[in-house]
Amino acid sequence: MPEGVSVLKGKDMQHIETIDNAFIMVQDDLIVDFGPMSVCPKNNFTVYDHQGKWLMPGFVDSHTHAVFATARHQEFVMRIQGKTYVEIANEGGGILNSAKKLREMDEELLYQKALVHINNAIACGTAVMEIKSGYGLSTEAELKILRVIKRLKNTVPIKILSTFLGAHAIPTEYKENRGAYIDLIINDMLPQIAKEKLADFMDVFCDFGFFTPQETDVLLKAAEQYGIKAKIHGNELGISGGVQVAVKNNALSVDHLEHIGQEEIECLLSSETIPVALPGSSFFLKIPYTPCRQMIDAGLPVAIASDFNPGSSPHYNLWFTWSLACLYNGLLPNEGFNALTINAAKALGLEKEYGSITKGKKAAFITTRAFESINEMPYWFGVNHCIENRN
Ligand code: NIG
Ligand code: FE
Repeated sequence: MPEGVSVLKGKDMQHIETIDNAFIMVQDDLIVDFGPMSVCPKNNFTVYDHQGKWLMPGFVDSHTHAVFATARHQEFVMRIQGKTYVEIANEGGGILNSAKKLREMDEELLYQKALVHINNAIACGTAVMEIKSGYGLSTEAELKILRVIKRLKNTVPIKILSTFLGAHAIPTEYKENRGAYIDLIINDMLPQIAKEKLADFMDVFCDFGFFTPQETDVLLKAAEQYGIKAKIHGNELGISGGVQVAVKNNALSVDHLEHIGQEEIECLLSSETIPVALPGSSFFLKIPYTPCRQMIDAGLPVAIASDFNPGSSPHYNLWFTWSLACLYNGLLPNEGFNALTINAAKALGLEKEYGSITKGKKAAFITTRAFESINEMPYWFGVNHCIENRN
């Protein structure tokens, strides 16, 4: 892809450039040149032969909650038996259940558990992963998660970004006094997080039963004081106003959007905010899928991500996310590829470093066997096609 392309919108989302029999030259972990073998410069670089394989940019997972204490398989069974996600949450399950377990777990074990998941995701081709806090919901526990993410940044071979999601739910002890919890986030959590430089972004779950658009606005403005940019969970449970508050605050992305109307589409069209669909959570919770076809046809860019978390999307295999997006969000395979690479990088502000094979970008690649067509990749659903990854 040529330099300067930062996002693909509307019809352009179908665009993929391929080169048969190609070379890529890498120096100091950056792509310095690429093209057909016929013009490959002669030099004494070390040669890695990938003949007969495909090479593509590593995936960008722009939305995960990869640091958590335990799985929530009991809720999985409750949902099979007929309870809804919202009912379980209202009975103290859901996010509050994860927060209870996380508060009891020490930092070292949390780190070790997340490391296992991240290494599995890397094996599936993830080259960049954003990780949110939000299962702590107290100053101590939120800081614990963010410190684990900081340690992961320094120890795993891929790029990690951290998002502060203290506003994921109102914790039980503040149930009758939500204003006090919002004050705690603004006056206690944020200053410490900013001081220790623990968050690249701030997220709020702006949805029915969680945080209102007004509360979200106040929280995002507080984060902005520290130069922390917004990413929003919005419109998962209904038309919540999440899109409007995200756009108003110039958020990098607004994620979920299972419920979205013409007004929200118009609002996104007037902005730089990237809509991110999370087909894994629609699949797992059996809720509507984000209408990406309609959004792309209206001229929007779309990114997709795993939403890896123990409650609504216990998966990190972005090949599967790609298949789901094609089958249920209406993306064409080419659009799914761009939604997982360049547009996902844009949703993290990393479009100059990741998301395509472009001179000057990071040499983070996936190699696979050769396919008849790119359409075949998401067709084999649930399969990890990676043969070898370079991060
Ligand atoms: O993105 N929707 C809000 N947060 C997470 C799920 C949290 C949970 O159930 O543990 C999500 O789906
Ligand atoms: Fe999420």
